[in-house]
Amino acid sequence: MSDTNIRSLAPIPPPVAAQQDGASASGFYRRVRNETEALAAPLSAEDQTVQSMPDASPAKWHRAHTTWFFETFLLKPHLPGYREFDPAFNYVFNSYYEAVGPRHPRPSRGILSRPGIAAVAAYRSHVDAAMLRLLDGCGGEIADLAVMGLHHEQQHQELLLTDIKHAFGCSPIHPVYIPAPAQPLPRAVGSLPSAAPLPPATMWRVPGGIHEIGHPQGAGFAFDNEGPAHPALLRDCLIAERPVSNAEFKEFMRDGGYQRPSLWLSEGWSLAQSAGWTAPAYWQPGADGWDTYTLHGLQPIRDDEPVCHVSFYEAAAYAEWAGRRLPTEFEWEVAARLHADGDAARPGLQPHPRPLRPGVAQDVWEWTCSPYTPYPGYRPEPGALGEYNGKFMVNQMILRGRSCATAAGHDRLTYRNFFPPHARWQFAGFRLAEDL
Ligand SMILES: [Fe+2]
Repeated sequence: MSDTNIRSLAPIPPPVAAQQDGASASGFYRRVRNETEALAAPLSAEDQTVQSMPDASPAKWHRAHTTWFFETFLLKPHLPGYREFDPAFNYVFNSYYEAVGPRHPRPSRGILSRPGIAAVAAYRSHVDAAMLRLLDGCGGEIADLAVMGLHHEQQHQELLLTDIKHAFGCSPIHPVYIPAPAQPLPRAVGSLPSAAPLPPATMWRVPGGIHEIGHPQGAGFAFDNEGPAHPALLRDCLIAERPVSNAEFKEFMRDGGYQRPSLWLSEGWSLAQSAGWTAPAYWQPGADGWDTYTLHGLQPIRDDEPVCHVSFYEAAAYAEWAGRRLPTEFEWEVAARLHADGDAARPGLQPHPRPLRPGVAQDVWEWTCSPYTPYPGYRPEPGALGEYNGKFMVNQMILRGRSCATAAGHDRLTYRNFFPPHARWQFAGFRLAEDL
């Protein structure tokens, strides 16, 4: 296929390099590690030990597992004389790496009262000291592996928040992780006052043709599943300028959206019936409509926020009700490049989505109708780290964008998040598309 057939698109955003914020690799290391500890700081030892479902892990486990990653893939093979902190940790904090050895069952992470949070803190300090020795003046493979480990830890920062939200959300007393800010969070330019109803979303036109998709090799850090970059053929279509709002989703609910099997995929309908779904996760009837559990505690639903904590099945049912469909991940990426607007007002990693505004940059992941499969030419890396992404490429759907809880630097337009279609505990919403 000739390059002349490939549409000229806006350039890929600047690379996310090892020195993300202009600091050294060790500066990046310190920053990310400190951010994880700051996220765990509001949590007691009991909070950090609880596991509310098999898919969610205790906060303490996230803190230790990310540390195990550096110990296993950097310190043991690359730092001469490194003293392993505790050999037993290789069993309890290995997540899914078959090549590294057997591991504690994922659904039982919540029974690990030991090691306690003091021991986990000591583990982190031990590994941090060794990592900073290793990173002193390093480059090449070591620096690349360290950056990989830091991006991995940032993914777990988001999981730490979504997992503790799920645990707290199961509690009848609605614990507050962190109080709501006294002042409204900064919003992007063009945002609307909370009381103003959102106008219907304008539809962007996505031109058909052959488009380059994916992260080009050598353009800065990306996970392996974002490449190889390759051409993809698209038909003309429309895609909404913003995700669906809470107010719009309530219309779907009022119109019997959860009671009409004709709107649902069979698997989704069966699950919705057996699980008793009548609203997005965390929603409950309130004094004046619907309330939702947030990391700020129980709050009234805001009409101008994106609907969030819905499964792929609910997103697909809504799209059917609206007479539209979900975008493919390729359509999403092309539209995002055409309309990339940045988000200078983004306040950093936050526990709750901001109100909607038109644009690519939003505070919820967006379900697409694309299954998680490898791009043409994709090959997992040899060795244990080849297990990072490739072996999960079945029975999951792609989500694009980022959420309020996604670390800065992960909002690449090529980023491919993935979850099973029933998952609801992530900050996941969706926007609509339409054929032309
Ligand atoms: Fe992990």
